[in-house]
Amino acid sequence: APGSPALTPPMGWNSWNSFGCQITETQVRQAAEAMASSGMRDAGYRYVVVDDCWFDPQRDAQGNLRAHPTKFPSGMKALGDHIHSLGLKFGIYQAPNEKTCAQGSGAFPGATGSLGHEAQDARTFASWGVDYLKYDWCSRNGTRDEQVARFGIMRDALRATGRPIVYSINPNSYHAITGDKYNWGEVADMWRTTEDLLDIWQNGNVNSYPMGVGNVLDVTAPLAAQSGPGHWNDPDMLVVGRPGLTLNQSRSHFALWALMGSPLMAGNDVRSMSADISAVLRNSRLIAVNQDSLGAGGRRVRDDGNTEVFAKPLSDGSVAVGLFNRGGSTATVSTTAAQIGLSGGPFTLTDLWTGANSTSNGQISASVSSHGIAVFRVSGGTPLASQTSRLRGTGSGRC
Ligand code: GLA
Repeated sequence: APGSPALTPPMGWNSWNSFGCQITETQVRQAAEAMASSGMRDAGYRYVVVDDCWFDPQRDAQGNLRAHPTKFPSGMKALGDHIHSLGLKFGIYQAPNEKTCAQGSGAFPGATGSLGHEAQDARTFASWGVDYLKYDWCSRNGTRDEQVARFGIMRDALRATGRPIVYSINPNSYHAITGDKYNWGEVADMWRTTEDLLDIWQNGNVNSYPMGVGNVLDVTAPLAAQSGPGHWNDPDMLVVGRPGLTLNQSRSHFALWALMGSPLMAGNDVRSMSADISAVLRNSRLIAVNQDSLGAGGRRVRDDGNTEVFAKPLSDGSVAVGLFNRGGSTATVSTTAAQIGLSGGPFTLTDLWTGANSTSNGQISASVSSHGIAVFRVSGGTPLASQTSRLRGTGSGRC
């Protein structure tokens, strides 16, 4: 949104995928400490976001939100101070209606949504040192106009506090209205494109529910042109390292989210992740592609059924390319420099998994395992003007 503090895709950790509504202050503190000690913070993951179920189910006599008395006994200001003392940023969760999602489903008592309290809640968050708000539609139907209005009230309330707070919205958390692919770039800094991503590789066709990596990818990839600095498509928190994915599937999921220019919010239990998963999440070459200042959303430039090619132009004129194999057996996946928007050559291909360099005169090809992805940074050529403007999505006109 205008004035956004998120000029590159936000990176961090969110409590929901591992702890759900059972989240406690102790777990958040431990997760934040693990972010610092595991190298996640230094790899770029900064926001520690406490999702649903952190609050007292009743506001105080003045209508102020407060921390849940037994789950978060030190209060949210103290938690935020601790997170900040670790060199991290503090994120929190609310909803624009009467109830949060957990309140709407009956998993948590009360009706403490921000409706009618937006300015008050924004000031409370700013006073606690909040740096990121996840604002989740939840628990009722609504028209797009209603959503634009209600999400807009909190955008203005946050900006009025004077504190830079990343505004992350979810217009897709109520089943009846899922499918609204509106461009929220004037309203929010990032917006969910689908319902919740679970640790499933692929569930049926694109619109099946619950959604897996392939489902969310297929909804989000065609929206690439509307993503850019200050306004990001959000294909949901990462399920990298969650039990339903193999290591190879976690790697592909991470590379695809990096190539799409998606926010990278880890959702695994960072206190106990394996060395392999930690290495995937901290891959500095893929993170550099994701955080590139141009902010281009990666496009699917080729779809041959089981194999697909993604390309993301980068600020130095190079292009990141993903050769993705969705099929059940090893396949050769190929593209050309011209297809990803480069002319001239010879080209240097840097393998973003291994860091190894090779030379090419334009052919880009790899043997890719089932559910795997090869990723390269292709440099040394000249961006083709026509291809580049198409790939960069110029003309979306938003910043
Ligand atoms: C919705 C959101 C999730 C999570 C839960 C919390 O389902 O999509 O990401 O925030 O609500 O209840």
